[in-house]
Amino acid sequence: MNPMRGIDVDRLVQPDRVHSHVYTDLTIFEEEIERIFTQGWIFVGHEGEIPVPGDFRQRTMARQPVIFVRDQHGGVQLLMNRCTHRANAVCHLERGNQPAFTCPYHGWRFKLDGELAVVPFAERFPEDFDRSALGLRSVPRVEAHRGFVFASLNPDVCPLKDHLGPLVMQELDDIADLSPEGGIDVTAGYHRLRYAGNWKLQVENAIDGYHANFTHRTHMDNVRFRTGFDPAPLTSSAAPARIHALGNGHCRWDSSSLNKSGTRAFPGKTPDPGAWEIYLDAMIAAHGKERTDYLLSKQGSHLYIFPNFSYTGAHFRLFQPVAPDETRVTLFPFLLKGAPREVNRKRLRVHETFFGPAGGGQSDDLEIFERNQVGLGASLDPWSLLTRGVHLEQQEADGSVSNQITDELSNRTIWAKWKQMMGEGAMA
Ligand SMILES: [Fe+2]
Repeated sequence: MNPMRGIDVDRLVQPDRVHSHVYTDLTIFEEEIERIFTQGWIFVGHEGEIPVPGDFRQRTMARQPVIFVRDQHGGVQLLMNRCTHRANAVCHLERGNQPAFTCPYHGWRFKLDGELAVVPFAERFPEDFDRSALGLRSVPRVEAHRGFVFASLNPDVCPLKDHLGPLVMQELDDIADLSPEGGIDVTAGYHRLRYAGNWKLQVENAIDGYHANFTHRTHMDNVRFRTGFDPAPLTSSAAPARIHALGNGHCRWDSSSLNKSGTRAFPGKTPDPGAWEIYLDAMIAAHGKERTDYLLSKQGSHLYIFPNFSYTGAHFRLFQPVAPDETRVTLFPFLLKGAPREVNRKRLRVHETFFGPAGGGQSDDLEIFERNQVGLGASLDPWSLLTRGVHLEQQEADGSVSNQITDELSNRTIWAKWKQMMGEGAMA
């Protein structure tokens, strides 16, 4: 029982099933915003989005407005978007570059690191008016790993490395090291989705290997028709690919076995031959042959970091809960620093093919999310099952637990983390 709002988490989330209310109930949603999105770590962006001083992005944390900005000293800041005078938002553009933030109401002006620089007609404030104490408020905890920035509104939250754990940090290392320079470039833009469904539908889908052959059947048919390659076996119940639970609700979908076995896992991802050779040479020079082979074998893998980050090959995404039945998702296709232009160009084209506004796959998932929310409204049997593959889980040498790609280990581990954060004593 969650004593704060009378939420019986033990009844709602059981080892083999979850109740519809976890996707539909307003009280539960508000408690998620407090316990998961306010008290815990959440993903807020990548340093590569704001490479130059003055670069900023508007973001939200637990529905609160924040500014993700590169300050005048080159540091990354996460500032509350609220003037310390009368609470007006000081930034109303979604993104851009500017030298300072000026409140449109009474003209207070703040430096990029939040320091209060200008107070118009300041002589009318009393003598004890302390300008130095009135900078934009900084989010209390901001930490990054390989440029991926996480933050918490809870000053007492555990260190980020304890939240991520070594297996997730290794996964982020492997993403960054796809660049010969060891870093990704996130200036190629982003696109945003909105759907009328609960945020956890996107969470579950981010690492769901069971749905691909059915939800994305038309896309697969198109690939087969256009290339002669049939991708359906890659996500069948006979595929060698595995899902891994990495601890703390984090998961990975490991496709390396497909690539190692010589399967053309993702046709179309091979860029123009000349550029590809240049990229390979640069990768081997930077990371060595063995690590390069390993990194490239992971192409097509997925990563989910609880609660609001996922990575899918050529892009990562950020989930933003708005209401029990409304969610926004931002997709960031990214480039590899030091890779030939043709390799990066191909990454964007491949991303668009499935995930873009005119792509063949992302719209399928959005439709599924909304139909899922409709079905959750039927109350006679309010349970969703989590049992697929539960008797076939395997303990792995690296400490993870794994299941076949179409199994539901990911759902079980995500819900176990949710239950831990939403249960009694979680905020103690
Ligand atoms: Fe999908």
